Amino acid sequence: MQGVSVQQQGQASWDQELIARYDLSGPRYTSYPTAPQFHPGFGEDELRCAVAVSNDRGNPLSLYFHIPFCSRVCYYCACNRIITANRRVAGPYLERLDREMALMADLLDTSRPVNQLHWGGGTPTYISDDEKRTLMTSIRRHFNLRNDDSGEYAIEIHPGDTTVESIACLRELGFNRLSMGVQDFDTAVQAAVNRFNSADEVRALVTAARQQGFHSISMDLIYGLPQQSWHSFERTLDAVLELSPDRLSMFNYAHMPNLFKTQRQMDAAQMPGAEEKLTIIHRSTDKLLAAGYVFIGMDHFAKPGDELARAQREGRLQRNFQGYATHGDCDLASFGVSAISAIGDTFWQNHKDIADYNAAIDSGRIPVARGLVLNSDDLLRARVIEGLICHFSLDFSPVEKRFNIIFNDYFAPEIAQLRSMENDGLVVIEPQHIHVTAKGRLLIRRICMVFDAWLGKGAQAQQKFSRII
Ligand SMILES: C[S@@+](CC[C@H](N)C(=O)[O-])C[C@H]1O[C@@H](n2cnc3c(N)ncnc32)[C@H](O)[C@@H]1O
Ligand code: SF4
Repeated sequence: MQGVSVQQQGQASWDQELIARYDLSGPRYTSYPTAPQFHPGFGEDELRCAVAVSNDRGNPLSLYFHIPFCSRVCYYCACNRIITANRRVAGPYLERLDREMALMADLLDTSRPVNQLHWGGGTPTYISDDEKRTLMTSIRRHFNLRNDDSGEYAIEIHPGDTTVESIACLRELGFNRLSMGVQDFDTAVQAAVNRFNSADEVRALVTAARQQGFHSISMDLIYGLPQQSWHSFERTLDAVLELSPDRLSMFNYAHMPNLFKTQRQMDAAQMPGAEEKLTIIHRSTDKLLAAGYVFIGMDHFAKPGDELARAQREGRLQRNFQGYATHGDCDLASFGVSAISAIGDTFWQNHKDIADYNAAIDSGRIPVARGLVLNSDDLLRARVIEGLICHFSLDFSPVEKRFNIIFNDYFAPEIAQLRSMENDGLVVIEPQHIHVTAKGRLLIRRICMVFDAWLGKGAQAQQKFSRII
């Protein structure tokens, strides 16, 4: 497929001038409304009502477990993590997770099958293989996990923390998807960000995962880090393509040193400038498409046969707190410090501070810190934004039927705003459809922002979002 340009494939196309003009900061819409709208007025009473609604609906479950620990800090990191070399912290944390599950299992109808399971972090592979077994045993005790490998059971692994033996252990525990943090293989970049994993280490794990029958291997890369240039990044990308991951995320480095103090340890003068970053993402996108990957949207690529690409083709793709998902009909129950749940028509987040989380569990309380009950306008806009972000097109009639509205009346101001984007060639507006063009796909966040009624209001007004590209 060498030489086929992005434009020809019609998946995403580059217009440098438009990207420069529209590249404002914006939410990533892993939820709508976004997390800054969650408020502390949401507590256990609201949570109990949401769970009762969810039990009545009886949707399958998705479970998320947050393991916050990492053995050393990567300076760029914007995740919710606790850096500690003291591995003894894991045991008490897993015990609390067990107690948190027991509290939720008292409320949730746990006969519902668990179609999706995700361990994220921090670094889930921080805990030992025995501790992984303990955690999975306790999940199985509380919930109805599938035993036939038909669920989508994923774990984030740090290659530097993972052995070939651990890969076998993860498969034995029921995981069938791996997500690996690669970030960059260049030694100068790795030294600048204090994170080290070689292509050989990653290759050994990929080989082991394939031998163990993992269904899908995903890798994370970041562009915008110190010492990076297109020249250096291309070598990483080539090494990654040789490993042939089923999915690839190319994250734009989110530089927010006021929020994440370790980012100050990197020299901003060594980070690639806006133009170089645009070259990196532009040429990487071209290269990935030429290698046969599909642009899923918002930093994500997948092989055409991967479940994510199939779900997109079949109109089943959804978006949740882990990014794109193929089991969007699930209610998401999340456990651990800072974890976010989406149950019934609500979102809620656990305490972000480990001491607060521990105190809540130790006194027998669900560790909810804040949340939101979605109103009918939120639910409608969430459906519109999810449709656009997952499928780059929106058919009004199912939305009109479900929400009992006339789309063009309800969203008249938004359609008027979209007209200037239509003039710029980002969208095509038809009487009953919105289509996002190849040019608009890279700016999908900006298009979704038109339908965001909360933007610039309340807590979100103070929130700093990362740049779109
Ligand atoms: C929880 S980590 C993945 C698991 C494991 N901790 C690791 O690093 O391999 C999630 C991913 O978020 C991405 N990430 C972290 N900080 C970021 C930042 N400041 N900007 C963009 N992406 C970031 C990285 O690609 C990372 O792999
Ligand atoms: S990138 Fe991963 S390993 Fe590094 S500090 Fe963040 S969560 Fe931990």
